[in-house]
Amino acid sequence: PKLEFLLTETRGRVGLVTLHRPKALNALCNGLFIELNQVLKDFDDNQDIGAIVITGSERAFAAGADIKEMKDRNFIENYRENFLGDWTKLTQIRKPVIAAVNGFALGGGCELAMMCDIIYAGDKAVFGQPEIKLGILPGAGGTQRLVKAVGKSKAMEMCLTGSVNLTAEEAARAGLVSKVFSPDQVVDEAVKTAEQIANLSQPIVQMIKDAINQSFEIPLSSGLTFERRLFHAAFASKDQKEGMGAFAEKRKANFTHN
Ligand code: HXC
Repeated sequence: PKLEFLLTETRGRVGLVTLHRPKALNALCNGLFIELNQVLKDFDDNQDIGAIVITGSERAFAAGADIKEMKDRNFIENYRENFLGDWTKLTQIRKPVIAAVNGFALGGGCELAMMCDIIYAGDKAVFGQPEIKLGILPGAGGTQRLVKAVGKSKAMEMCLTGSVNLTAEEAARAGLVSKVFSPDQVVDEAVKTAEQIANLSQPIVQMIKDAINQSFEIPLSSGLTFERRLFHAAFASKDQKEGMGAFAEKRKANFTHN
């Protein structure tokens, strides 16, 4: 089916999704999320894809949830339909997802980026949680993931004022963003990293993503046990024999994702 709000392509073993609602700075409307969830699921199920990149335009990654679509909603509708419940589907994608952020990543746009596994940013990117200025609060992880990414003081300041935003450089210094590039290079660099990951052993890549995500959910001792179990299990893979064998034989490993 034709997509209304997204562009998709594959580059090698990387699935690239571009948010494409230029007239509204990629405001995240319901239809966009339905399409995004479907496209991500298709990439996740596709064995020829090993990692995913999500990007927007140079002007905006996404300027937030669609305010015009949201403004007349009421409590009962929100509750009955579990409004925003669909947004977290992105966090159930098992393959690594890299956000390539240019321009505005505000409100739900910042939250969407934070649901991804790695964030690369263009040097004009702006990260912020302006919801307070609309009389609401972040509703898709802004009060939770942002704290873990930038610490309490910055997260409080951003969410409570709605006006203090982070530049790409500030976001990188705080740990929210891992690398900053010029705007025209962000997507290519994200795809390059994604391609690198996609050519490593896929089952092991998934174990690593799984283990790191556990660190946000469970106590350290349980996380270390979880990691140890997966570490043991890695030795059941052909890719472990290949990776270590290749090192010993001084050649490049050829992973078969088994
Ligand atoms: C709907 C939006 C929008 C949004 C921009 N637009 N952001 N429409 N929802 N979040 C629309 C504008 O209405 C305008 O449409 C067009 O995009 C261009 O935007 P301008 O405002 O004209 O551009 P500019 O002057 O450059 O200002 C850019 C901006 C500003 C600073 C990003 O657009 C802005 O403040 N947007 C809202 C940011 C925000 O509050 N985000 C949080 C949303 S709440 P027209 O038709 O006039 O051309 C949220 C809640 C999350 O995300 C809760 C859980 C998910």
